[in-house]
Amino acid sequence: MYMYLCVYNFISLMGFSSWVHVLLLVLVFQQKWLVLGISETKVYIVYMGHNTHTDPQILQDTHHGVLLQVLGSKEAATKSIVYSYKHAFSGFAAVLTPTQASLIADFPDVARVIPNKIYKPHTTRSWDFLNVNPHFVNGILSKGQSGVGTVIGILDSGVWPESRSFSDVGMRRAPSRWKGVCEEGEQFNKSNCNRKIIGARWYVKGYEAEFGDLDASGGSEFLSPRDAYGHGTHTSSIASGAVVKDTSFFGLAHGLARGGAPSSHLAVYKVCWATGGCSSADILAAFDDSVHDGVDVLSVSLGTSPPFSTYVDDPLSIGAFHAVARGITVVSSCGNSGPYPQTVTNTAPWIITVAASTIDRAFPTSITLGNNQTFFGQAFFAKKDFDKYYPFVYGEDIVADDADEDDARSCESDSLNKNLAKGKIILCFQSRARSLAASTAKNVHAAGGVGIIFAQYPTKDVTLTFVIPCVQVDFSVGTSLVTYTESTSNPVVKIGMTRTVIGKQTSPEVAFFSARGPSSLSPTVLKPDVAAPGVNILASWSKNQVPPLDFKMESGTSMACPHVSGIVALLKSVYPTWSPAAIKSALVTTGSIEDDNGQPAVAEGAPHKQTDPFDYGGGHVDPNKAINPGLIYNITTKDYIRFLCAMGYNDSAISFLSNQPHVPCPRKTNILQNLNLPSISIPELVKTTTVSRTVTNVGPTSSLYVARVEAPSGTSVVVEPSILFFNATKTRLRFKVTIRPLVRVQGRFSFGYLLWEDGTHVVRTPLVVRVVIEKSYSEV
Ligand SMILES: *[C@@H]1O[C@H](CO)[C@@H](O)[C@H](O)[C@H]1NC(C)=O
Ligand SMILES: *[C@@H]1O[C@H](CO)[C@@H](O)[C@H](O)[C@H]1NC(C)=O
Ligand SMILES: *[C@@H]1O[C@H](CO)[C@@H](O)[C@H](O)[C@H]1NC(C)=O
Ligand SMILES: *[C@@H]1O[C@H](CO)[C@@H](O)[C@H](O)[C@H]1NC(C)=O
Ligand SMILES: *[C@@H]1O[C@H](CO)[C@@H](O)[C@H](O)[C@H]1NC(C)=O
Repeated sequence: MYMYLCVYNFISLMGFSSWVHVLLLVLVFQQKWLVLGISETKVYIVYMGHNTHTDPQILQDTHHGVLLQVLGSKEAATKSIVYSYKHAFSGFAAVLTPTQASLIADFPDVARVIPNKIYKPHTTRSWDFLNVNPHFVNGILSKGQSGVGTVIGILDSGVWPESRSFSDVGMRRAPSRWKGVCEEGEQFNKSNCNRKIIGARWYVKGYEAEFGDLDASGGSEFLSPRDAYGHGTHTSSIASGAVVKDTSFFGLAHGLARGGAPSSHLAVYKVCWATGGCSSADILAAFDDSVHDGVDVLSVSLGTSPPFSTYVDDPLSIGAFHAVARGITVVSSCGNSGPYPQTVTNTAPWIITVAASTIDRAFPTSITLGNNQTFFGQAFFAKKDFDKYYPFVYGEDIVADDADEDDARSCESDSLNKNLAKGKIILCFQSRARSLAASTAKNVHAAGGVGIIFAQYPTKDVTLTFVIPCVQVDFSVGTSLVTYTESTSNPVVKIGMTRTVIGKQTSPEVAFFSARGPSSLSPTVLKPDVAAPGVNILASWSKNQVPPLDFKMESGTSMACPHVSGIVALLKSVYPTWSPAAIKSALVTTGSIEDDNGQPAVAEGAPHKQTDPFDYGGGHVDPNKAINPGLIYNITTKDYIRFLCAMGYNDSAISFLSNQPHVPCPRKTNILQNLNLPSISIPELVKTTTVSRTVTNVGPTSSLYVARVEAPSGTSVVVEPSILFFNATKTRLRFKVTIRPLVRVQGRFSFGYLLWEDGTHVVRTPLVVRVVIEKSYSEV
């Protein structure tokens, strides 16, 4: 018997926690912004009308023409233009002063001018955990033929093409419809593409136009599709990686690594740069090309933090809209700013927004004290020669002369007395500012410590540290360790080797860091949509990093997103004509809301609690059920446009987004809750409200479904009709859901489900309701 172990986990571009990385990025950008403030030019994205059926060359001339009028000369126009967008929509990106930008905004053909914005990039037992494996009889992997013939596009930091995950042994040729290219560049030539990596492009013009030439010296970055960081290699291998035997991370999580759709092709769009972030002008160019190239799925593990741009201003939402309108499913990460409410990002209703969850693999590491008491924490630590007792001290007890006790408790930098820290294992408590294990380990290393035990909020997200061993424990174990250090004059501790344990840990749980709903832009759209594995994922990495690794553990919603992208590729293999909405519906209504013990799933966070739809939408993805959903909720592009109208966006903004000249634009707000989503969310239920939905039968032609309701507390729910009968001529049926408030309170959100059941399928639709007395909070 052999084991499949896959690898999962995102957080960083730099080899430390993504949180650390994010901080670094912000610093870099703030400096650059200061510089920019002096020169005053900036990249703007200019959206033109709806003339995308025109010859691309003519479109490009039009774009130059607009710039020529404002900048006065052909040379200046050529110098200013960064991209001409020609496929998904018409428009361009150019370097302009604010005055020039506002002049252009007044042109009759110009729909919108949007300033460029910077995005940040937000792995294999996971596939077995999801039962996506060849041994699952009649499962999604065999039905979907491992994704054969599908193309997954990845917008990320590029790819390390030599990784074994991108071997094309046994792969078929690219589908005949494929129009993508393999762009060459630094340390990347056509021979780096193969039957696995069938397309590779890179986009730096938007980034450089704003921040100046990218410094790629010393191998810190490659001006090519080659991944200097690892993030893009990681996400690509999670979604589409070939089967690689005998992988591990320093001997941990040993086994077989593979992507979700190992026979799918990969199209790499490098939009993120090691020096910091991803420019929206570049992201839009990648969306534009990917639509032209012919991808089936786009996996976009990028995002910003609150406040979020509106759907008509956010390039990710705009690019995704155009892709979805062409039948391409767009999957995005929901962000890593959990567990706080309203942090979920990428919430446009046409996107599949993915939360991160844990799997059943744990990395227990023993901590043995001098009195023989043993505790367990988690770590990635496999050094044999460390297995002996070291002196053990609590940070607070070795404060540096001019430092603060509170800082020493959490081992902030320069807070520890180096003479007293030297050669010891140090106990540190996470600070109120939520310091992270990785940065704290660096501080302890700098102070001369040889190891760290880091007490923090309970989470299964294990931090990777290369400098010294770091064991993460929860606050209760941390407190017991403090008691020990105080009870003896000569405290010592021994850290055991980390073991890999499968199947002993209750899972899935929604990860602590996973961002939570409701959506701060559109609370009638339930977000996130689903959860997928995103904690401690082993997948391919860039060899450019120090130390060079073939495979690396990462955690983040960035890792959860490509899990869903891989599943979508499998679904597309089986149902090539299904719309992105149908695919999303299949994933949401079949999601699992129980853990592997059949108990209601829980979410990490403050406080540790039972999950609700704001943690993970329809639930944890269940690929083998998603392939047979019974009924789906379909949505057309027109429906999305009506939704945008009801959101109150103006005609020019919607006309641009929809690529249509004049859209009939009803402004009635009840349209918001009637968008045919696979969920019903009413953020302000003042009085009895009726919403409607239409379901399409994709199961046996003749089917009879009966409604069952688990009403959100404080409400009564009636479904009409409560029986749906489908036959050869009646394949779509409409029903109404009437929700009545039973309490008179300025309430909080409560949750329930509407279930359509035919004896085989359970089509679960989340119900999210907040009863309020007054729509305004001013009375409260
Ligand atoms: C392409 O790169 C590979 C190594 O990465 C090298 O062996 C090969 O000679 C290069 N081919 C061309 C045409 O430059
Ligand atoms: C701890 O256990 C070891 C062997 O298991 C034993 O030799 C030692 O005396 C014990 N120490 C204490 C303090 O109990
Ligand atoms: C959903 O609607 C689209 C058109 O908007 C249609 O092409 C598709 O067949 C419908 N049904 C499914 C299951 O996707
Ligand atoms: C339309 O809305 C956009 C974005 O909200 C705004 O920038 C633009 O000025 C508006 N246009 C008009 C004509 O009101
Ligand atoms: C389907 O059911 C409808 C009534 O619900 C009926 O009018 C129609 O004839 C049926 N079609 C078939 C093919 O049985």
